[in-house]
Amino acid sequence: MKNFINISDHSSVELKAIIEEAKKRKQSRIDLNKSAPDNDKPFFGKSMAMIFEKPSTRTRMSFDIAVKQLGGSSIILNPDGIHYGKGDETLQDTARVLSEYVDIVMLRTSTHKNLDEFSRHLKIPIINGLSDLSHPCQIMSDILTFEESNGAIKNKIISWIGDGNNNMSNSLIEAAGRFDFNLRIGCPKKYSPSKHILSWAKKNKVKLEITSKPLEAVENSDCIMTDKWISMNDKVNTKIKKKILKPYQVNKKLLNRANKDAIFMHCLPVGRGEEVTDEVIDGRQSVVWRQALNRVHAQKSIIKWCLD
Ligand code: CP
Ligand code: NVA
Repeated sequence: MKNFINISDHSSVELKAIIEEAKKRKQSRIDLNKSAPDNDKPFFGKSMAMIFEKPSTRTRMSFDIAVKQLGGSSIILNPDGIHYGKGDETLQDTARVLSEYVDIVMLRTSTHKNLDEFSRHLKIPIINGLSDLSHPCQIMSDILTFEESNGAIKNKIISWIGDGNNNMSNSLIEAAGRFDFNLRIGCPKKYSPSKHILSWAKKNKVKLEITSKPLEAVENSDCIMTDKWISMNDKVNTKIKKKILKPYQVNKKLLNRANKDAIFMHCLPVGRGEEVTDEVIDGRQSVVWRQALNRVHAQKSIIKWCLD
């Protein structure tokens, strides 16, 4: 079974092939309407079930459009509206039932172990649409977005500023290993990457530098990325966390220290005036809207890879 749960589960060759397929498919449908199917309709007669334990705009919309463009259909399931491991049916049984109805499942979960549990009992592939530990589809589409504007990501310098210990930064560290780019994380010590991901990075020879000085982290950088200071279901004192992260705001001064053609990325939703200023996110170096669009193209390729 080909699941897509973490970037680290896959080889560089497989991941690069997924990105190349996404570029090709995106290019080949340039004249088609937003939801018109691709000519070859590789998902014709097939369907995807999507389960969201947490809110979502982009993941929900982009997977739905991705499936339509592949020629298939999708159904969105609200955990509160189905039997979903809350006493009346185990997750295991829900997984068995879904396997009879659809061809692939996408799950957004607050508890990464639900992905593992589902994947153990599903007879069809599962895609991680964000968990507390990783957000692989977002990082894959961000690689597509980076390469569209700045060419091959290999050996480029990517700077992650702010919360260094969340789902996005974990997947970015894994991507740095697989796509061979230099990753600089500028974060306060309290929000540094976890021991677990750091030991993976060491074993996989990730070119990773961690500093508590944001200006140092963006020097000569090709891309500055950040994320909300408070992630969904982040069980922290928000006032304290925001205060500690204040010096890590991506503003014009910080952006000006990066390369002239550096791009600014944010997975969205954004805390305007917190992790990034309006001037940066609405400025000429920001590619955030294209990042949102590219979720469609990267995920089409991921779905196709899972089902091939
Ligand atoms: N970036 C992202 O995953 O956005 P949503 O939470 O809106 O899906
Ligand atoms: N780290 C953020 C990403 C949102 C797409 C969160 O988990 O809320």
